[in-house]
Amino acid sequence: MKANLVIGLLADGQVHSGESLANQLAVSRTAVWKQVRKAMEQGYRIETIRGKGYRMLTRVDLLSRNAVLERLDSNLRQRVDLSVLDEVDSTNAEVIRRQAEISPGTIPVCIADCQTAGRGRRGRPWRSPRGENIYISFGLTFPGGFAMLDGLSLVFGVAIAEALEVAGAQDIGLKWPNDLYCSGRKLGGILVELQGELEEGVVRVIVGVGLNVHMTAAPDVDQPWTSLARELEGQDWQRNALASALVTSVVGAADEFSASGFSPFRERWQGRDIFSGRQLAAKQGEVAGTGRGIDDQGNYLIESTDGVEAVRAGEISLRVAAP
Ligand code: BTN
Repeated sequence: MKANLVIGLLADGQVHSGESLANQLAVSRTAVWKQVRKAMEQGYRIETIRGKGYRMLTRVDLLSRNAVLERLDSNLRQRVDLSVLDEVDSTNAEVIRRQAEISPGTIPVCIADCQTAGRGRRGRPWRSPRGENIYISFGLTFPGGFAMLDGLSLVFGVAIAEALEVAGAQDIGLKWPNDLYCSGRKLGGILVELQGELEEGVVRVIVGVGLNVHMTAAPDVDQPWTSLARELEGQDWQRNALASALVTSVVGAADEFSASGFSPFRERWQGRDIFSGRQLAAKQGEVAGTGRGIDDQGNYLIESTDGVEAVRAGEISLRVAAP
């Protein structure tokens, strides 16, 4: 029996006797106790009340494949192959593995409750604690060859920011090329990995999104961060609803990009640019100047006394210059 089943029954925060849990799950009370202990080892705080039973003290927001699927439009539901996992090394890695197994034309999407080897941009690890956040990846294909992919990584930042605002978040900013920001702190990140050309001109791309939802403590994260729960206290964020909003928005944006390229996204990205008008410097000090938004290809424009220079994504890491 999975610890998830006991966690699901205790999720309402009420006291449940061992006997009633055992009856509902058709297992012994010892089996229930073992699963309660396993859930506690995973980090859930569960109170054991003598003679009465168990009570969940941690807020529980379990992921469920059905709950994500039932919120998708029926056409989209047909197009995706969704796996929702308890634990995985990296959802990006899982999508790469799954691609070999599913029928061509289907979009593999993987969501996990935690990642043991979550990866971020520039080879950095992505902290992925259990039960707190969303870790989701998509396997997408695009026609037109690599030359058509200019600006693609920025498209997903726009898609996710727009989905979050529809879901109730406010003022989601983008830090070039595609970090999600709120109140000056990082709310989420996007890792776009190019997998190569499948056949003449069709390029395969893995898009992984890490979004901080419930996280309120992360002692080992070395940059200012935030989460939806921190930004909007009192709002009951549901990971299943958020995940299905992300699937809808990301696949929709991929379709729009395939049909029309980057131009429909440029203004939408620009409106969220947290660097605009600010004094910027590249980490290694190669360029410095004022942020002036992006060009038609999604390159970042920096204006200095020498003129305007375009910085390509992946080449350089930009930050706000120290005052
Ligand atoms: C960044 O460094 O800002 C990008 C972070 C991307 C993290 C996500 S979590 C889901 C997917 N799986 C991974 O291993 N990484 C991405």
